[in-house]
Amino acid sequence: MIIAIDGPAASGKGTLAKRIAAHFGLAHLDTGLLYRAVARDVRARGGALDDPDAAAAAARALDPATLDAPDLRAAGLGEAASIVAGIASVRAALLQFQRDFARRPPGAVLDGRDIGTVVCPDADIKIYVTASAEVRARRRHLEKAGRGEAATYEGVLEDIRRRDKRDASRDAAPMQQAPDAFLLDTSNLDIETAFNTAVGVILGKAGQRGS
Ligand code: CDP
Repeated sequence: MIIAIDGPAASGKGTLAKRIAAHFGLAHLDTGLLYRAVARDVRARGGALDDPDAAAAAARALDPATLDAPDLRAAGLGEAASIVAGIASVRAALLQFQRDFARRPPGAVLDGRDIGTVVCPDADIKIYVTASAEVRARRRHLEKAGRGEAATYEGVLEDIRRRDKRDASRDAAPMQQAPDAFLLDTSNLDIETAFNTAVGVILGKAGQRGS
C-alpha cells in the first residue's frame, strides 16, 4: 500500500504521515528532507542555491544515510530547500529514490508537495493536508518558541506565504492537490481529529478496493 500525503508548510502533514505509517505498519519518508539535504550540501560545497548545475550535482551525490541528521530540520533550511526544489534537474535526480522507497514491501507513506501528482500518481490513497496560512504560522511560531528560537508571528507568516507562493507557482512539479486526493483542512482540527479522519479515509478506500 502506498499513501501519498501532500500539503504546504506547517499543515500538519509530517506529523500525520508519521502516525499513519506507524498505525498501518508502513515505512515513512519525509521527502522534504531530501530537498533540505540538497540545500545543505550545496551550501557546504560553497555553491549557490539557485545554480542548477551545483544543485543537481548535490542531488545526484546525495547520501540517504545523512537524512537523519537533526540539523536538517532547522527552520532556515526550509526556505533554502524551496529554492533548490524549483530546479527541474534536482527533482529528476531525486525521483527514483522516492519511487523505490514507495514500492518496497509492505509499502510506505510519503509526505511532500508532489507525491500524489508526480512521484506516486498511482498511490492507493492520496490526502492533501492544508490549513489557513494564519493557523499554520501560529503552529510554526509555537514550535519555534518551544525550541527557544527567536521569531515573531508576523515574520513566520511572511515566510510561510513566500514559500507557499514559490512552491505553488514553480514550473517543476508545483505544489497542488491531485484531482483524486482527499482534502483534509486542519484549520479547525487538532492532531487527534485530523489523524482519525485520515485513518477513516484510508480504511474507507481500502474497503472499496477490497469489495
Ligand atoms: O516542514 P516544512 O513544510 O517546512 O518543509 P519541508 O516539507 O521539509 O519542505 C521544504 C521545501 O522542500 C518545501 O518548501 C518545498 O519547496 C520542497 N519540497 C518539494 O518541493 N517537494 C517535496 N516533495 C517536498 C518538499
